[in-house]
Amino acid sequence: MKDLEIQELRSFWEANPLSAGRIPYRLGTPEYFSFYDRLREKNETPEFSALLHEYHHYSHKKVLDVGSGNGYVLGKYAQFGAQVYGVDLTLTGVELCQRRFEYQGLRGHFCMGNAEELPFPGSVFDCVCSMGVLHHTPNIERAMGEVFRVLKPGGRLILMVYHRNSALYQFKFRWMNRVTGKSRRQLVNEIDGLGNPKGEVFSKSEIKNLLRSFTDIETSVGLLQSWMILPRGARFVPDQILKRFERCFGWFLYAKAIKP
Ligand SMILES: C[S@@+](CC[C@H](N)C(=O)[O-])C[C@H]1O[C@@H](n2cnc3c(N)ncnc32)[C@H](O)[C@@H]1O
Repeated sequence: MKDLEIQELRSFWEANPLSAGRIPYRLGTPEYFSFYDRLREKNETPEFSALLHEYHHYSHKKVLDVGSGNGYVLGKYAQFGAQVYGVDLTLTGVELCQRRFEYQGLRGHFCMGNAEELPFPGSVFDCVCSMGVLHHTPNIERAMGEVFRVLKPGGRLILMVYHRNSALYQFKFRWMNRVTGKSRRQLVNEIDGLGNPKGEVFSKSEIKNLLRSFTDIETSVGLLQSWMILPRGARFVPDQILKRFERCFGWFLYAKAIKP
């Protein structure tokens, strides 16, 4: 059963690499990466990303990205001198990371693998990050156990999952459920594309519980946009209002923690 779920997940992500449907350039070309990076930086500015990841602390340290996608985050760690490793369920992900690193003149190690069975020995990484990934895996408890195992004592985990107490989930998806008859679970799945077999939302306390083997747990919330509150195409909510509420009702739930 579990193998079937992972295969289904892999097929989805092979056919729908991160945001590829919104990018008008051939996958893996320099234009594709530039377009993707601009899209991403509308959601997470480079300044925010630098504060969140503290890239400069990981120069010459070993960093693993679980579900490395097209290598956006790992590229940043590598630019700051980290020895970077990326693991992704898909061959497409691995090839995209390799391409990005070639274009940017960076070095990194990439392989296919499952977050629930990481292909690395224990206690080797100074930092493990996993952004927008673990809410897709069938058994997140198992994936957390794996992340814990491969981190060195004192190593840091940083992750992002979808937020249960967000305006999108609590307000817009409730309304869409009434209008379309789709369950909120299905609407969460479809955020990453029609046919996505698995998406999940977490509250701060649920994520803290999943991280119970770690210490120094910090959580924060970000990303609130007009479409997450209003029907698509409706008038925009002013930025000052969105900014004011995004720390409570944003869609991204971030967590940082240390392996004791
Ligand atoms: C939404 S993308 C995020 C990519 C990247 N972390 C980023 O921030 O740009 C999700 C990625 O996670 C990968 N993925 C999903 N489930 C996984 C699993 N169980 N193990 C490893 N990778 C997984 C997918 O192949 C996809 O590349």
